[in-house]
Amino acid sequence: MRSHFRVMQGLFRKHHLQYIAVALALGLCGISHAQPDRAASISIQLDSPSHKVSPMLYGLMTEEINYSYDGGLYAEMVRNRTFSGRSHSQPAHWFLVERGNSSGRMALDDATGPSDALRNSLLIEATKADADNPVGVYNEGYWGMALRPNTTYRASFYAKTDKDDMGGVSLALVSNDSGKVVASTKSESLSSAWKRYEVTLKTGQLEANANNHLVLTVSHPGQVWLSLVSLFPPTYKNRENGNRPDLMEKMAAMKPNFLRLPGGNYLEGDEIQDRFDWKTTIGPLVDRPTHPSPWRYQSTDGMGLLEFLEWTEDLNMEPVLAVYAGYSLKGAHINAGPFLQPFVQDALDEIEFVSGGTDTLWGAKRAQLGHPKPFPLHYVEIGNEDWFDRSGSYEARFDQFNKAIKAKYPQLQTIATMPLKNTKPDMQDDHYYLRAVESYKMASKYDSVDRNGPKIFVGEWATREGSPTPNLNSALGDAALMTGFERNSDLILMASYAPLFVNVEPGGMQWESDLIGYDAMLSYGSPSYYAQVLFAKYLGDTVPKSTATELPNRFFYSATVSQAQGKVYLKLVNGNSEPRTVSVHLDGAKSLKAEAIVETLGGNNPAETNTIREPQRIVPVKTSLKGVKETFEHTVPAYSIQVIELSTQ
Ligand code: AHR
Repeated sequence: MRSHFRVMQGLFRKHHLQYIAVALALGLCGISHAQPDRAASISIQLDSPSHKVSPMLYGLMTEEINYSYDGGLYAEMVRNRTFSGRSHSQPAHWFLVERGNSSGRMALDDATGPSDALRNSLLIEATKADADNPVGVYNEGYWGMALRPNTTYRASFYAKTDKDDMGGVSLALVSNDSGKVVASTKSESLSSAWKRYEVTLKTGQLEANANNHLVLTVSHPGQVWLSLVSLFPPTYKNRENGNRPDLMEKMAAMKPNFLRLPGGNYLEGDEIQDRFDWKTTIGPLVDRPTHPSPWRYQSTDGMGLLEFLEWTEDLNMEPVLAVYAGYSLKGAHINAGPFLQPFVQDALDEIEFVSGGTDTLWGAKRAQLGHPKPFPLHYVEIGNEDWFDRSGSYEARFDQFNKAIKAKYPQLQTIATMPLKNTKPDMQDDHYYLRAVESYKMASKYDSVDRNGPKIFVGEWATREGSPTPNLNSALGDAALMTGFERNSDLILMASYAPLFVNVEPGGMQWESDLIGYDAMLSYGSPSYYAQVLFAKYLGDTVPKSTATELPNRFFYSATVSQAQGKVYLKLVNGNSEPRTVSVHLDGAKSLKAEAIVETLGGNNPAETNTIREPQRIVPVKTSLKGVKETFEHTVPAYSIQVIELSTQ
């Protein structure tokens, strides 16, 4: 992965240089170049459809990067809950507690664990302890633990002891600042065999904050082993092992149609054994061995395949399932042929787990895990970014997967991750990571692409300016790109921004410019996030024919209509430092309301942004536009994205 990361960084640097060169050539480096609007006009033929808007156009893509799940969406509050991963002498994020005159030690024990999958544990050896002087450990959480008033938290852990009279484990949620216990409880007595214990902790009146930790102590001398120590707040739709409500709500506002899962590089892993091996991510947590994410930390796999699917269900999306296709990031690959066959079978099993009836082997397994209803599935992506595979093995690997998938599931659309020479896949996944000036150029790329090739899935795209989350300039670049996606949505059937999430705490980010930022307590949307919210909120079902003349530089538009709702959605993007005026002509409108709704996302400075402390600096502002008629002039403010909702009924 590191070499891959370097390649990506290299590309990024290259793009940056290109940016400067292009910017100089265009005279855009901060030099104002006021430009007369001349006869800038957009004509929309409302009674003349060009094509349907792809019903799947906007969706989501995520992976375990930037603490997206662990320390992010997946609501688990205990960090390093299973003591798994690369060997270390001290258990990271865990600390010894010796109260009063007690004494003890803690150590990792790789000789005992609660299951075949979890063979490690944390040993607490209490040499001197009693009820007033307990010994134990505390966990610091993912940059703290967010506690809210009058809220119930569910804690659980696996434990065993060497003493008959050890009693139970005391659990407490404690403020880092005051040392005050804000909630506490005690488990049943431990025994000599590994067993799961579950308790609840309820907070009282307190000011919501993330400056807290979880303490587990015992009050008798002896040895206690712990594993899979877990703490959950209330989750979205109260799912057990579920997700953070604030992040789910932010995604819901994007009205996503699909979720591309499970990655990205996370699908491939650094090495073949580090791939997203879906069969090891289902079932009870104690049976999930965890695995290294290519983004340099261990994934708990609490977000396993079924949890991904439940996430799609909760947000009314469809999974776009990416299957591991025999290439991992550090270059190891399996050539097409008999050695690839087990991986092909894994993919077929995975498709069956997602979409098979309960009369199938893997559909029955899904039912046994609590979800008898098959998930809708129409798209399967074979691999990820296989243009990185310099061996040239992808075309044959794709072919082997594709034939097997089509033979068993002819209704599925398959997606190739790069252009192929000999096969025409149903779809091709194109990825773009750009500077704003490059996004402006890219916005028209698909206007002239051959319609006889595969359909396009823009499975990863982003304008990358701003860190940890993109700034207004990125949002402008993104909006320009999205006008191109909409205009060409006969060809571009789906598009998903990446990466979606970043934990903004120090050390949380491996990849800059991520759509939504958060810490343990709060989350916020970047300007780019709000651009996507706007584009998805105002999207018709048809693209009408339209023409534009003399549009200024850095000015973009798209128009969609909803006949059923009698609406025209006109999106305008002005990436200039001055306002720009266009003349809008609406041909074929049966009737037109004189007043329209306008939502504007903009600012004074393209470097402006939102942050965890200032989350609402750049947000859409709703106003109304009067005097709409078949031809009207409209001025788009500097550095702004506008959506005009016109009513034709
Ligand atoms: O989005 C970050 C990474 O960029 C993805 O994991 C990978 O597919 C791409 O190179």
